[in-house]
Amino acid sequence: MKKEKVLVIDFGGQYNQLVARRVRECNVYCEIYSYKTPLEKIKEMEPKGIILTGGPASCYEEGAATCSPELFELGVPVLGLCYGAQLMSHVLGGKVERAANREYGKTEIEVDTSSALFGGGGLKEVPAHTTCWMSHFDYISKLAPGFRSVAHTGSTPVAAMENKEKNLYGIQFHPEVLHTPEGSKMLYNFVRGVCGCGGDWKMDTFVEDSVKAIREKVGDGKVLLALSGGVDSSVAAGLLSRAIGKQLTCVFVDHGLLRKDEGDEVEAVFGEKGRFDLNFIRVNARDRYYVKLAGVDEPERKRKIIGEEFIRVFEEEAKKIGTVDFLAQGTIYPDVVESGLGGESAVIKSHHNVGGLPDFVDFKEIIEPLRSLFKDEVRKVGLQLGIPEKLVFRQPFPGPGLGIRIIGDVTAEKVKIVQEADAIYREEIAKAAEEWKKENLPESFGESREGLSVDQIFAREREFNPPWMPDQYFAALTNMRSVGVMGDERTYDYAVVLRAVKTIDFMTAEAANIPFDVLQTVMNRIINEVRGVNRVLFDLSSKPASTIELE
Ligand code: XMP
Repeated sequence: MKKEKVLVIDFGGQYNQLVARRVRECNVYCEIYSYKTPLEKIKEMEPKGIILTGGPASCYEEGAATCSPELFELGVPVLGLCYGAQLMSHVLGGKVERAANREYGKTEIEVDTSSALFGGGGLKEVPAHTTCWMSHFDYISKLAPGFRSVAHTGSTPVAAMENKEKNLYGIQFHPEVLHTPEGSKMLYNFVRGVCGCGGDWKMDTFVEDSVKAIREKVGDGKVLLALSGGVDSSVAAGLLSRAIGKQLTCVFVDHGLLRKDEGDEVEAVFGEKGRFDLNFIRVNARDRYYVKLAGVDEPERKRKIIGEEFIRVFEEEAKKIGTVDFLAQGTIYPDVVESGLGGESAVIKSHHNVGGLPDFVDFKEIIEPLRSLFKDEVRKVGLQLGIPEKLVFRQPFPGPGLGIRIIGDVTAEKVKIVQEADAIYREEIAKAAEEWKKENLPESFGESREGLSVDQIFAREREFNPPWMPDQYFAALTNMRSVGVMGDERTYDYAVVLRAVKTIDFMTAEAANIPFDVLQTVMNRIINEVRGVNRVLFDLSSKPASTIELE
């Protein structure tokens, strides 16, 4: 059966992936394409709806990103957001002009509740008076023929518009961001109401469909996967195992720079005694990494050594296995979009991940079973497959691991200190978060975790968290030793630094406001339990000017 699809046409705005994620949250599959995509290709995809995103340009300027007027004649519902709405007006004969002042931030808005966007079609009702997130210089000063304004703010007469007959809609603000509290309803009303999508995008069907597709593609071939224990490669392993069992071999390189017990945890899940049917090879490469890293204190040099050594180890293992038919990779949709293959957004984040594997392995084809998924969808698939929550909700962990959380040269002693301190920190944060959940979770979640559905487990971990819950947190080891006193003895030991940040995209971040008593408990435990540490610091810096990692 052909899946329903909505196209998100990207004009280079900053929230474009967010638009796509929100649409997927309505159980509607969507993909991001550049505004340069030819109309013919758009037609071939037979979309149920089209969303034009925001963008940085002014649509009336020469050379600005544009679209063909025929896009609005396909008989497919179109929703323009911000720049997309202005462009729709401009192309269809309305007028867009520069406003005297930029309208920016949370803004009060009046909406016409008879419009399908706001619940007039019988789906999700939006209150007549609400708030929205505005960010624009230009505004629609004259509607295109056939349109009427269905929302306004104090300074913007057309904050939303519709041409009901032709199923064309425009929204000047950003319904995709959380600062527009009713925004998700508006997108839902568009894709599920105006476009008539039934909502066939669900993660359990994704698992079934993928298993079928993988079996068809792989046949009786052999597949090799580099398993890091991160979310993406773990879920890829689980999915491939479900599809092809022992035709899959996973190589897990333990470089001795993982967090406390992490190597054993990965082995417990994917190894022989684990719950997945596959061949699992763990390479304990700790000693050779430590030898290579001895005396090296320059961060980029450390990164390079760790990356190169990974390739070397993996290459040796791959040689033992011989030619394989497929090399599997845990690529996910944001990787595809950010590498410039999907939308129009600039490549924002240069990939830190260990690259270059394909050149070193003898294989015929690459297989990327998670290529269409956003990170949270990958997590849901992981839960469907029975991968433990600990792995599924693992926070981001850099490829070079603790190697870049130890300032200066890496030694076995320092790795041990940072592992112990970090384990205590994570344990106490988890404890405090659980306590908060006990008080604050809606009753429908019950007393225990038993018997929760995949969606509930997901919401419990990702949505219902204390306001201070960091998006990434860890302990790192400074290269500083200072004087302390223990009993009657003078000590001269290391200082551990605790990092905790709130961030959306990891490009900017702020220190998370962890309750002081939690920090005090962590400090006390680290000083008492970790040998070689006599001082614990909390890192308050934002990114920029600091980075999240210390190196
Ligand atoms: P920074 O320190 O650049 O971190 O503010 C942003 C995000 O990227 C992660 N990070 C890395 N990930 N290899 C990786 O795989 C690296 O070399 C690396 N350096 C930073 C970091 O953990 C954070 O999530």
